[in-house]
Amino acid sequence: MPVAFAVSTAPADQVKADLLAVPVFAGNLLGPGADAVDRALGGGLAAFMTEAGFEAKTGQTLAVPTNGALGASAAVLVGLGARDELTVDAFRKAGAALAKGATKVASVVTTLAEAAPAALDRAEVGQAVVEGVLLGGYEFLGYKSAPMPSKLAEVTLVSRAAATLRRGVERGATVGSAAIWARDIVNTPAKDLSPVEFAKSAQRLLRGKGVKVDVLDEAALKRERCGGILGVGMGSQQPPRLVKMTYAPTGARGTLALVGKGVVFDSGGLSLKPAGGMETMKTDMAGAAAVIATMSVLRDLGVKAKVVAFTPMVENMPSGTAIRPGDVLTFRNGKTAEVLNTDAEGRLILADALALAAEAKPDAIVDLATLTGACMVALGERIAGLMTNDEPWGDQVRAAADQVGEPVWPLPLPKDYEKLIESELADIRNTATSTYGGALTAGLFLQHFVGEVPWVHLDIAGPSRAPSDNGYVRKGGTGFGVRTLAEVATRFRKPRRK
Ligand code: BES
Ligand code: MN
Ligand code: ZN
Repeated sequence: MPVAFAVSTAPADQVKADLLAVPVFAGNLLGPGADAVDRALGGGLAAFMTEAGFEAKTGQTLAVPTNGALGASAAVLVGLGARDELTVDAFRKAGAALAKGATKVASVVTTLAEAAPAALDRAEVGQAVVEGVLLGGYEFLGYKSAPMPSKLAEVTLVSRAAATLRRGVERGATVGSAAIWARDIVNTPAKDLSPVEFAKSAQRLLRGKGVKVDVLDEAALKRERCGGILGVGMGSQQPPRLVKMTYAPTGARGTLALVGKGVVFDSGGLSLKPAGGMETMKTDMAGAAAVIATMSVLRDLGVKAKVVAFTPMVENMPSGTAIRPGDVLTFRNGKTAEVLNTDAEGRLILADALALAAEAKPDAIVDLATLTGACMVALGERIAGLMTNDEPWGDQVRAAADQVGEPVWPLPLPKDYEKLIESELADIRNTATSTYGGALTAGLFLQHFVGEVPWVHLDIAGPSRAPSDNGYVRKGGTGFGVRTLAEVATRFRKPRRK
């Protein structure tokens, strides 16, 4: 059930709800509203916390009996960690803990946002709590025969600064719901998400959202000379698509282009993956999902820039009609590549999409792609690799990612490694001649298609999927990138020229 959010200035202990959630800091320092819980316990809260081994670590919760003394029927303490080390992300984690501890009740009232120190922006804190509730409480139950969803339906945030908080709460609900759409679509099995279905899902989501959507079918892709998308799509019974999206507010300042990898399933093609490597390859469209989800909220977020987006959608399969190692593809911008490994397919479809994006003459491009296992070797499962041809633009994207708590880390695009992707037959080859530095050589391949446009490539192979629950990240598709892209679009300024 979608959770609804409200903001109230009423005293928390008087609001009628099933559950009152109050913050506690490390050292069991009571946060705003916790005094009412202490009174309900007859002043015994400190002893109760000690007995229960509660330390108020970030995201730790403790249910407390309230003896009918509060407006709410029950209370729960939510840990925020050390008071002098509070970050916005701690509030996101606390929101997640609240949602996970409230699956059996319908309504919660919470003073969490009141715990924001002066140094933190109250709207950002409200946004984080709401995002935490939505993302932490997320469940994907569509394939269960007898689903038992969380009962949580309404969360009321109490605050004295209600107007500021309300702005953040709205933004959090908007961005959080978009990330949930991305998670759902990433978690959907590839049997039910062909490129055609994926394109239709995008159209459905974007209807009435102020975004123009064009879907290019095979004939249109041929007309537009998208040899990479057509080449990778050749092996599958499911034809490829390219979804082009345009958000053009009146009086737009600057143009941002987004590109997302949409491989609905990556078997590797004729360069077949081993069985284990294929298990999670329905995730290989997470970049496209994040881009589409972001497009759906630009108007609600009041984004002032024009945003154009391109998401190529294919299924990478082996068959008698599949592309072969040794084949050469010609992309949208006229460049050619020798395909030596059909499992390096992401760069082949992104080549066309990036060329189209660059043709639109945007001020900057960001692409998101589950591109390489090598990036996971370098940065692990939680951090995305950031590569760029323009340091100031890279800094802007990184600042946005840092602000929303999606970890990214810079990787280089070394000129010197360019020779690793030189081909004797074509302009470039799709796998490097070295087994090392695979994230970088993939980035260098993409760079051939962006021309002079400031561009950031985010390799999200690691963080697009989580191997287990972790705070507001739930096992499975994570929706990584939606919050960063929403922030990038909101703050967008033309990058300073070199
Ligand atoms: N989709 C994969 C990358 C990937 C691997 C994402 C594991 C998430 C988890 C990509 O298409 C791929 O197969 N890349 C190859 C490239 C290689 C053949 C040069 C890889 O990383 O092994
Ligand atoms: Mn692959
Ligand atoms: Zn792939």
